[in-house]
Amino acid sequence: MGWIKPEDIKQAIGAENIHYRKTSLLCIENPHNRAGGIPLTMDQLRADWEVAKAHNLSVHLDGARLFNAAIALGGNVKSLSRYADTVMVCLSKGLSTPVDSLVAGAEYLIKKARKYRNMLGGGMRQAGVIAAPDIIALTKMVDRLVEDHNTAKLLAEGLDRIEGIKVLNPVKTNMVYIDYSGLGWSDLDWINVCRKLGWKTISGPVTRLCTHYGIEAEDINMFIEGLTELVQSKSMLASLLDLEKN
Ligand SMILES: Cc1ncc(COP(=O)(O)O)c(C=O)c1O
Repeated sequence: MGWIKPEDIKQAIGAENIHYRKTSLLCIENPHNRAGGIPLTMDQLRADWEVAKAHNLSVHLDGARLFNAAIALGGNVKSLSRYADTVMVCLSKGLSTPVDSLVAGAEYLIKKARKYRNMLGGGMRQAGVIAAPDIIALTKMVDRLVEDHNTAKLLAEGLDRIEGIKVLNPVKTNMVYIDYSGLGWSDLDWINVCRKLGWKTISGPVTRLCTHYGIEAEDINMFIEGLTELVQSKSMLASLLDLEKN
């Protein structure tokens, strides 16, 4: 899950054809969000790199949550970046800064990236103030990601026990994908119930819940208990949703 197999890459590259653009770049996301935050291993990354290089493709690693992958695999971001020409990491997700992503690569590529950033209006002056939390992110927030992975597992276990909710992914990082269509609730009911229980969610019925800094095991347990109660008691649910309307 979340891994583009070498044979699929070969097939997607296709033969040279005057009618089509030449394939020049392979983008890999690690861990893969839509596949449920599944981290790709070094072997998988190497296999894709080898195919890419055999076909003269550059490789970009979208590592928005690369630190989560490293923690989940017991590795580090440096080695997970080995099979890529450029790597981006996002510091504002699990690492908790207000803003900021970083891109790394060979000097000539970074020069090019800076130029494009400017052309697209992304340059900033006096950015030091908003970049300062990055130091905290990189020095203090990485090792604690394991807590988010543990709370995500706890959340998945709890949701899995609720009739009408299906957990769709094996939880390896901080994401839990669910399908709540079995509850028979509208999207608005789901959002209102979650809001009442202190959780901000988006509509589904297939939707994603993420754990992060500030969410403790106790919060998960309270959420699961509250949700279970509301699923089991139609009258409680009706009065809560009625309150939400007024
Ligand atoms: C998988 C993935 N890649 C890239 C990005 C882009 O991050 P940023 O907007 O900080 O550049 C995001 C942001 O949500 C993401 O989820």
